[in-house]
Amino acid sequence: MTTYDGAMKGGRKEVRGPVTPVIAIDRGAATPLHRQIYEAYRRSIVGGDVASGQQVPSSRSLAHDLRVSRIPVLTAYSQLLAEGYFETRAGAGTFVSASLPDRLTPVRNRDEPENKGPGPRCVSERSDLAPARTSAPWTYGSGAFSVGQLAYDHFPFPIWSSLVARHARKVNRSSLNYGDPMGLRDFRETIATYLRTSRAVHCEARQIMVVSGSQQALDLSARVLLDPREPAWVEDPGYELMRHALRMAGCRLVPVPVDEEGMNVGAGKKLCRTARAAYVTPSHQYPLGATMSVSRRLQLLDWARHAGAWIVEDDYDSEYRYESMPIASLQGLDRSARVVYTGTFSKTLFPSLRLGYMVIPPDLIDRFAAVRRVADLCPPQLYQAVLTDFIAEGHFARHIRRTRLLYSERRAALVEAIREVLGSRVSILGSEAGMHLVITLQLPAGMRDLEISHRAAQSNLWLWPLSSTYLEGRSARQGFILGFGSMQAADMLAAVRRLREMLPKHR
Ligand SMILES: Cc1ncc(COP(=O)(O)O)c(C=O)c1O
Repeated sequence: MTTYDGAMKGGRKEVRGPVTPVIAIDRGAATPLHRQIYEAYRRSIVGGDVASGQQVPSSRSLAHDLRVSRIPVLTAYSQLLAEGYFETRAGAGTFVSASLPDRLTPVRNRDEPENKGPGPRCVSERSDLAPARTSAPWTYGSGAFSVGQLAYDHFPFPIWSSLVARHARKVNRSSLNYGDPMGLRDFRETIATYLRTSRAVHCEARQIMVVSGSQQALDLSARVLLDPREPAWVEDPGYELMRHALRMAGCRLVPVPVDEEGMNVGAGKKLCRTARAAYVTPSHQYPLGATMSVSRRLQLLDWARHAGAWIVEDDYDSEYRYESMPIASLQGLDRSARVVYTGTFSKTLFPSLRLGYMVIPPDLIDRFAAVRRVADLCPPQLYQAVLTDFIAEGHFARHIRRTRLLYSERRAALVEAIREVLGSRVSILGSEAGMHLVITLQLPAGMRDLEISHRAAQSNLWLWPLSSTYLEGRSARQGFILGFGSMQAADMLAAVRRLREMLPKHR
């Protein structure tokens, strides 16, 4: 059996256990079977698809997989052994030679197709709108100040593992099949109860769609609610991947400024009263951290009702508030079923879980379910079942209580360190909630936060440049979004001192 474990060598995943290249046996071909098998292996070794030192299946097992007798396989293997492509190790089996001559190492750049064929290789213009991850190291680096990183060492691993094992043991025929595009019924009931009690969301389980994180919810909402070229309000500054989802759906983005009361609805109306949708983070504006005031919430709902527009509420980290109780959702104030609400377990549990949810107005449920089927049919089931129990047995609430305390200490330590090391050079914004805060500062003419972030990334400091979250670069404030979720309180002072080293000398 071929097993994959996490070892990476030279950027490629090392495969432990026997490896079979793709061997398409053509019984009608003039080339004998043993030659076809020999050629397939030789090509894969020379092309670098099968690495040196990897085990190959026994002749019996390959003959069985290819549905041929053992004779052509044995003939091919002995030829490959004779030519030095294979070697046998006593008691262990047959392997691709560990000492292949250099001339066999692949010369082809594996990212470049061997034969491009005629004409230009056209791809959609739309795909060009998605930013390459590699151009912004702070989006994926992990360590000091990286945004979106959590206190993984405080995750209740034993409880989680035992629940995963419990459900993995219960896998049955029905759980292997395609499921409801909306998600597992029990899980949706559990989420609805949680949202009603913790977030004051008006909802029934039938309105809940389980998604692979709120990013999928944002993407789906753009596809369902908006047609190409239709205008949508977005917060400026705001969450970049939300904007990219809208852009790829062909929408026209209307950047609406935000202040300490959240999105400025009056400004939005002046810019484009007839927009089809508004995308907002009212509980904790991303990235500046404001909470949308009640009067702005009412203005936004009122505008949506009169304009016949939709509001997409991205409630990505509202569980973490330190100076006051969590703020009730905007959706809970809506009496016209104009709000599509989205939330995620990426911040409360862990992002690779890829589980989030949306609350869909009742008359749009079928439309969303239909579009979701086209995107990915339905969510995978195992972790929905695990999480249902995790929440029902009280582990989720306990984990949030513990991590809220932990993040609150980390945040306090960071704020103190910034005040001590950087003093009045910087202003701190949005430190009342979440797992990041923002510092803004005055930079010398011609210098940009982006440059500093690129330089800092080379020293493993992940400073997310604030200007990159603005749609209109011209009006962008300079500064950094600093994540503190994965940093120990005791390490903050040293990290902020390193940050200071990245800044221009203060006069
Ligand atoms: C404001 C905001 N919305 C949505 C998301 C998407 O999160 P996920 O797709 O992991 O649920 C993030 C992730 O960091 C975020 O910061």
